Amino acid sequence: MTTILALETSCDETAAAVIRGGRRILSNVVASQIDLHREYGGVVPELASRRHITALWPTVQAALERAGATLDDLDALAVTEGPGLAGALLVGVNWAKAVAYARGLPLVAVNHLEAHIYANWLLQPGEDEATPPPSFPLVCLIVSGGHTELVLMTGHGHYRLLGQTTDDAAGEAFDKGARILGLGYPGGPAIQRASEGGRADRYRLPRAWLGDSSDFSFSGLKTALLRATEKYRLPDPPADAPRVPAPGSPFPPHRPARLHPSMPVADLAASYQEAIVDVLVEKTIRAAHAAGATMVLLAGGVAANGALRERLGRRLDLPVRYPPPSLCTDNAAMVGAAAHHRLRAGVQAGWSLDARPNLPLVSGPRV
Ligand code: KG4
Ligand code: ZN
Repeated sequence: MTTILALETSCDETAAAVIRGGRRILSNVVASQIDLHREYGGVVPELASRRHITALWPTVQAALERAGATLDDLDALAVTEGPGLAGALLVGVNWAKAVAYARGLPLVAVNHLEAHIYANWLLQPGEDEATPPPSFPLVCLIVSGGHTELVLMTGHGHYRLLGQTTDDAAGEAFDKGARILGLGYPGGPAIQRASEGGRADRYRLPRAWLGDSSDFSFSGLKTALLRATEKYRLPDPPADAPRVPAPGSPFPPHRPARLHPSMPVADLAASYQEAIVDVLVEKTIRAAHAAGATMVLLAGGVAANGALRERLGRRLDLPVRYPPPSLCTDNAAMVGAAAHHRLRAGVQAGWSLDARPNLPLVSGPRV
């Protein structure tokens, strides 16, 4: 069985993992940068790249150590080539190229969205190699901070795009909604937490069904939330009020919205989450039936959302699989799982490999 060291540096997590046979996680280390970016209310690309540079080697060492492996035990190196932040991707790509070249190892370049899908091939607690992997044809809903795509997968590496967002991604909608509600970053987990005990039917926020289309739109929803919260918004402090940069940072911190304490945060968060989940679930079910799928997969950071997982499982009459929450958000184990199938198909990267910030999952015409 092949043993792959996989790296992920496309956004704000520096991650390394050792994966055996494409499904078994020998180690999975994620050095999160969330604390670094939190005070800006979102990821600052330049800070992310700098942190990847200092964090990558210790993260790789920790992953090898936890797997009880050395570079000598590896059959291949895998790295995310895109999509993502150019400077951040470059750190992982260059490290992987250098080490693969020096050690004479095959190098596998992985699409970040494909990696999110392949998180569903990784063994979950209680499973072993005898557990059947996902079956084709399947429909996968990829919902992350930068992407919202419905994809038909007919075999390993074979994708057809069924629909995608026309404006904000689902994760972006969570993040922007959280900012409006003064809940901080990252927004998805914050909105999920704030929703607990809230009344999801208190605010009837808009759903963009876009007719029969499998495309999505979330920008109108965000505007509706802004309107619903307007009367609770307090005036900003004077623009010349001092904002002190964090130690070691050249950027002034983000200034969060000032909101009246009487704002019904739980009801607003629950209603907002419900509006996003509603559209994601109904469109996924429709697409899965229309495509004759045998099962549905959830992938990407928003797939960690409890309401989404629960509702899709309850509403759909097909098997649904989603990774455990820690494998929904960015990690390198999923990169190793995707790389395993690429390697088996004989696909390897050359030494000209470069970061591809806008790499699509599916190129060519829509179906
Ligand atoms: O896949 P991911 O880790 O990074 C990207 O590739 O973008 O996704 C990050 C996104 C963020 O927008 C974050 O708010 C969202 O996933 N997210 C969630 C939850 N956990 C993370 N959204 C809703 N509910 C969650 N529990
Ligand atoms: Zn991601």
